[in-house]
Amino acid sequence: MSQASARAHSNIALIKYWGKRQTHLNLPAVGSISVTLDDLYTDTTVRFDDTLDGDCARIGGAEVDVARFSEFVDIVRAEAGIDTRVAIESHNNFPTGAGLASSASGFAALALATADAAGLDLTPRALSILARRGSGSAARSIFGGLVEMHRGITTDGSDAFAEPMLDASSWPLEVVVAITDNTSKKINSTAGMSHLDTRSDYYEAWVNRAEDDLADMRAAIAARDFTAVGALSEMSALKLHALMLSTRPGLIYWNAATVSAMHAVREMRAGGLETYFTIDAGPQLKALCAPGQGAAVAAELARVPGVLDTRLTGLGPNAHLR
Ligand code: PMV
Repeated sequence: MSQASARAHSNIALIKYWGKRQTHLNLPAVGSISVTLDDLYTDTTVRFDDTLDGDCARIGGAEVDVARFSEFVDIVRAEAGIDTRVAIESHNNFPTGAGLASSASGFAALALATADAAGLDLTPRALSILARRGSGSAARSIFGGLVEMHRGITTDGSDAFAEPMLDASSWPLEVVVAITDNTSKKINSTAGMSHLDTRSDYYEAWVNRAEDDLADMRAAIAARDFTAVGALSEMSALKLHALMLSTRPGLIYWNAATVSAMHAVREMRAGGLETYFTIDAGPQLKALCAPGQGAAVAAELARVPGVLDTRLTGLGPNAHLR
């Protein structure tokens, strides 16, 4: 029997990824740039145990369908040359599957814990590639601070990994998460982004423009230009949702409170409190804030009708064993 425990932090993309260039290896059609969130994380313990009849997994104490996790652990078993069954125990300190990137922190923590329990000594890059197999955004949660995920061009996925850009202390940005719904989302991202080339007329434009958006964001981050980073983030989020809305059938991830919170962010800006929103495949809004500005933004967002809760977080560290 061997066991390992890991913690990985959630992340949100400032330049978004949506769409796959290859599904089996989970290769993204576009690169992405994200921030890792300190206060939202997953703790996962993996136990390889000869006495188990089959794999099993629990999230937050409740038994879940193990198929997706078994498939993931099979990658590690193949690499380690073992076929021992596993028990996976995972806890998110935030709502699961509601657009707060639980699959990002979840598969990053699972990658690290599984590799370690199986006796594999993987580099951070190899861990990022492994985490990507579980979920595209999980590749980024291996690293803290600001992170870039490369789309890669090879068919084996060896160049589709994330890399750290800046650590959390180099630019201590803050993020306010405005929770507008605590239930699981209806259409998960894998289903939402499948066959996009035939389902959205906007997809080609999305892919063609991605490299320019990434280059603009790299330059804005290098210059620590908060205004440019924020404006690009809001643009990328709105463009992502335009793509989602244009998909047949159209994907509407927002609720009324999401839209109210978007307007509130723009009103704060007009009033001199500089903050920008981003939104993933769910109804929660995340407001990107300059260092020290998060508390004021959180207080404003808490007043928006339909916002159930707010969480203020700084940028988080690398995924790590515990
Ligand atoms: O990690 P996935 O494959 O579930 O996709 C995540 C997609 C978005 O969160 C909407 C955008 C992103 O880049 O994280």
